[in-house]
Amino acid sequence: MTPAEPLLSVRDLRVVFPGTSESAAAVKGISFDMDAGQTLGLVGESGSGKSTVCLAVMGLLPRGTQVTGQVVFRGRDLLPLRDRAMRPIRGKEIGLVYQDPLGALNPVRTIGSQLRESLRLHLRLSRAAADDRAVELLERVGIPSARSKLGAYPHEFSGGMRQRVVIAMAISCDPVLLIADEPTTALDVSVQAQVLELLHDLSSDLGLALMLVSHDLSVVAGMSDTTAVMRFGEIVEQGDVESVFTAPQHPYTRSLLASVRALESEDA
Ligand SMILES: Nc1ncnc2c1ncn2[C@@H]1O[C@H](COP(=O)(O)OP(=O)(O)O)[C@@H](O)[C@H]1O
Ligand SMILES: [Mg+2]
Repeated sequence: MTPAEPLLSVRDLRVVFPGTSESAAAVKGISFDMDAGQTLGLVGESGSGKSTVCLAVMGLLPRGTQVTGQVVFRGRDLLPLRDRAMRPIRGKEIGLVYQDPLGALNPVRTIGSQLRESLRLHLRLSRAAADDRAVELLERVGIPSARSKLGAYPHEFSGGMRQRVVIAMAISCDPVLLIADEPTTALDVSVQAQVLELLHDLSSDLGLALMLVSHDLSVVAGMSDTTAVMRFGEIVEQGDVESVFTAPQHPYTRSLLASVRALESEDA
């Protein structure tokens, strides 16, 4: 039996933003794989290139950005695809949860109409069927009295509830891969753990592969199967989460771990 091919295989990905020099590439030739249903924790300090990787996978880098390498998703390289060809993949097969739930939602449209839009576009549901599905999704992400919330606007929700709505949108078309870029960074500390738990439950219940991006190692450590540690546009260390965090090989990973442990002992 041949081993199953990875769901996502990023090969030698290199990204140079417009107006920046070759030597200042935001991502400098990185490679990693993700298997179906697995969680990859992508960690690294701010500016290390994590969001750039997410945008490259989604085909959302600004015009004029030089991107080389391969982003093979379900056996097909996404990098050469034009926007039109990416549209059925983005938001349907690959869902995205951004850091800032307010930025991801349209402030002047109801939650219901934003949820319905993607359902009708990708799944061609009738309005009534889309409404039912929207209610089911809101219930699934833990929004109480879901049906009565369809007519509510984003500002009527708390930050944590808004992020739940964004997660509902991201899973609305049954993606196989969910990319969550710092999904709790903009939220109150009190709700961060609940939102992470929701992502964890969804990924295991729905069999989703989850790319969980965070600058916080402790977030990634508890939830991931594998991890990749980024620094200055490179992956300095990767592997299964246990081995990377119990026996880090790279000095940078060790220093990240040491700072997490120092914070934990302060809390204790
Ligand atoms: N649109 C852009 N134009 C030019 N440089 C950018 C752009 N977006 C990000 N960068 C730069 O790319 C590097 C990586 O950024 P980013 O991927 O956002 O890091 P992270 O998500 O790890 O904080 C940083 O040096 C950042 O300043
Ligand atoms: Mg980022």
